[in-house]
Amino acid sequence: MWDPQQYLIYGDQRGRPFRDLVAQVGAVEPREVVDLGCGPGELTAGLAQRWPQAHIVGVDSSPEMIERARQHTGVEFVEADLRTWEPGRPLDVLMSNATLQWVPGHLELLSRLVSFLSPTGWLAFQLPANFDEPSHVELRDLAGTARWSGLLEVTWPAAHPPLAYLAALLDLGLDAEVWESTYYHQLDGPDDVLEWLRGSALRPVLAQLDDTARDEFIEQFRARLHGAYPKGQHGTVLPYRRIFAVARR
Ligand SMILES: C[S@@+](CC[C@H](N)C(=O)[O-])C[C@H]1O[C@@H](n2cnc3c(N)ncnc32)[C@H](O)[C@@H]1O
Repeated sequence: MWDPQQYLIYGDQRGRPFRDLVAQVGAVEPREVVDLGCGPGELTAGLAQRWPQAHIVGVDSSPEMIERARQHTGVEFVEADLRTWEPGRPLDVLMSNATLQWVPGHLELLSRLVSFLSPTGWLAFQLPANFDEPSHVELRDLAGTARWSGLLEVTWPAAHPPLAYLAALLDLGLDAEVWESTYYHQLDGPDDVLEWLRGSALRPVLAQLDDTARDEFIEQFRARLHGAYPKGQHGTVLPYRRIFAVARR
């Protein structure tokens, strides 16, 4: 259901939080580094520049994403569900970028992830917290209208409040830091907001519709986005709030 090509259209902007996250991981010469929900693998492969000596593994449940990721050399890519995947060796760095929002129950999963860490291991993750932005409100609202509600059964991506992540990590005995950042992505116009969402939040909706219904849904959603994100003097700005957590044993 994931389309690496579509996802990578805004790869540069999508990659910025990943780079900001990695910058706060203080691991020195880690040997085992894993990226859960690695997607098309660009960012995972980039970790080799930061930690050239490390054995780096990307894990993702999407065959399409893993196929795309395997174009990168020097990194191992594994197709697996992160809820059941387990490493062969203790991990010095365990990352997950823009993925946990797709995993219901991910807060409870943290203790399992922490159990994979080496005695000096780091856990670092980032997830969006923009689900009350017009982009997502309009999407849920449209999907809930009489025209669409009978055709769609969507598990929407979701995040907890930042304090919940901090409490969970501290309860697990880690030193932890949690923060938020809002990125103001400059896009050409509201149609770019649509294209951005086609690579992520729109994906579970479109996957449930046939071609004709999909086109109709997209046109209705496009009209709503034109109202919510009108083109101004500097194009359209998409505010994107994100939660970051970095923890170590
Ligand atoms: C928004 S993409 C993020 C990709 C990459 N981390 C990045 O930042 O560009 C989310 C990825 O999470 C993966 N994913 C979602 N649920 C997963 C699960 N339960 N196990 C493994 N991967 C999962 C999807 O297949 C997708 O590639």
